[in-house]
Amino acid sequence: MSQSFDVVVIGGGPGGYIAAIRAAQLGFNTACIDEWKNDKGGPAPGGTCTNVGCIPSKALLQSSEHFEHAGHHFADHGIGLKDLSIDVAKMLGRKNTVVKQNNDGILYLFKKNKVAFFHGRGSFVKAVDGGYEIAVAGDKPETLIAKNVIVATGSNPRALPGAAFDEENILSNDGALRIPAVPKRLGVIGSGVIGLEMGSVWRRLGAEVTVLEALPTFLGAVDQQIAKEAHKAFTKQGLKIELGVKISEVKSDKKGVTVAYADAKGAVQTLAVDKLIVSIGRVANTIGLNVEAVGLKLDERGMVVVDDECRTNLPGVWAVGDVVRGPMLAHKAEEEGVAVAERIAGQHGHVNFNTIPWVIYTSPEIAWVGQTEQQLKEAGREYRAGTFPFMANGRARALGDTTGMVKMLADAKTDEILGVHIVGPFASELIAEAVVAMEFKASSEDIARICHAHPSLSEATKEAALAVDKRTLNF
Ligand code: FAD
Ligand code: NAI
Repeated sequence: MSQSFDVVVIGGGPGGYIAAIRAAQLGFNTACIDEWKNDKGGPAPGGTCTNVGCIPSKALLQSSEHFEHAGHHFADHGIGLKDLSIDVAKMLGRKNTVVKQNNDGILYLFKKNKVAFFHGRGSFVKAVDGGYEIAVAGDKPETLIAKNVIVATGSNPRALPGAAFDEENILSNDGALRIPAVPKRLGVIGSGVIGLEMGSVWRRLGAEVTVLEALPTFLGAVDQQIAKEAHKAFTKQGLKIELGVKISEVKSDKKGVTVAYADAKGAVQTLAVDKLIVSIGRVANTIGLNVEAVGLKLDERGMVVVDDECRTNLPGVWAVGDVVRGPMLAHKAEEEGVAVAERIAGQHGHVNFNTIPWVIYTSPEIAWVGQTEQQLKEAGREYRAGTFPFMANGRARALGDTTGMVKMLADAKTDEILGVHIVGPFASELIAEAVVAMEFKASSEDIARICHAHPSLSEATKEAALAVDKRTLNF
């Protein structure tokens, strides 16, 4: 016997579970299929983000930051500590608890919103009259008939050719989040978001961390003034970052991992480490979806081909999140999920790709929205830039964290804010004001005229806006 639904979502990550909830809110009879298993084999919805991504990484970043503060910064506040230690098992246990709270939260939300949840792998069987037949393979195999299908099957880590992940020595994000003891020497290939976040976690806990990056520029997609400031801070903290390398071979044995590479000058080098994290990007995941059965079109990189509104080549089949073009971010996946559910309901769901914020949760944090200075230059757009350093911000001084700045870029004629770039404390929270401002097409003068609480880090955003007009008050 098959069960029929208006909407079947395949994948229960941020793209999928949010799409399912929104579809149910809109009155659709909705199902969500997700195959992620917890360590007991039970359901663990939330996808990469909840299980091996956003949430566990932020839990470990928090634990390791406490450790670093206790070891290096508490003394500045007159707080003395003896015999500081880190219990890695306990730290990982706490992280697992945080993950489980999120898994359970999603199962609760499914019940609350009357979304039928199926634990197992969903795959296309065939097109049927007015929809699609979807098989669920798992402990309880099922057949579902869906009028509309939303594919939200996410992404997997990209492996380095010749260096498959074993999660013991050569680690993806999964293994990087559960190293059982602090390695003495940790190698990281790729100085992108995962490399910097996970490299920071284990460095703070005592590992000697070397990051090898292929590109000659550090964080090339980030505004370069901000990236340079971040690079300076990370290097000062002890993160060794080598740019412009070419990896030639990775060998792993019981003793650890050896990476042979050519450095930026072409000289042959060897890096010997106990563990190696490979974080060189992610690839769309359509494994087991059986796209051939219905002719769902993928591009040459394996991503589901969609238009600007997440429509695939098949009527009634949509795709959102990491499995389609665009930034691989949880909040982008969520926004697409909501917009698709609303489009199925005949509404005008909308995602503004120009105002999707990015955050790298290192210390200092890096956050930005909109265009970088290098992008504006390339586009030949005339702009004015204003920066304000946290060094001149009272709250940052009181916090004891004055690294970095807020930078605002505004159109030279209209003064519309084109981009905001932050490196410094709580950049992840501060960026929200910039996103709101850009969504409302605010000018830098708008931000400069708004009353900001004192003392607060947000005053640095106001001052950066004032700096666009060369009239900072506190610098
Ligand atoms: P996923 O979260 O990957 O979910 C897909 C789900 O579909 C999975 O549960 C999978 O098991 C399931 N699935 C796949 N195929 C099938 C099938 N055939 N049948 C049933 N189920 C299936 N983004 C941020 O915005 N902020 C962060 O701080 C952040 N930190 C990150 C840290 C790390 C270490 C990593 C790896 C990623 C991080 N990301 C972060 C990126 C974020 O995790 C992804 O962008 C997000 O999870 C994408 O959501 P999604 O729903 O498209 O896919
Ligand atoms: P990434 O794209 O951020 O960085 C990959 C880095 O590896 C790049 O700098 C690239 O030049 C480099 N690289 C590629 N091939 C290489 C090679 N052969 N040798 C050396 N360097 C090489 O990818 P990452 O860090 O794996 O993360 C994947 C995605 O997950 C991110 O792009 C992001 O979308 C998401 N993510 C988001 C987070 C956040 O929002 N805070 C945190 C972590 C991940």
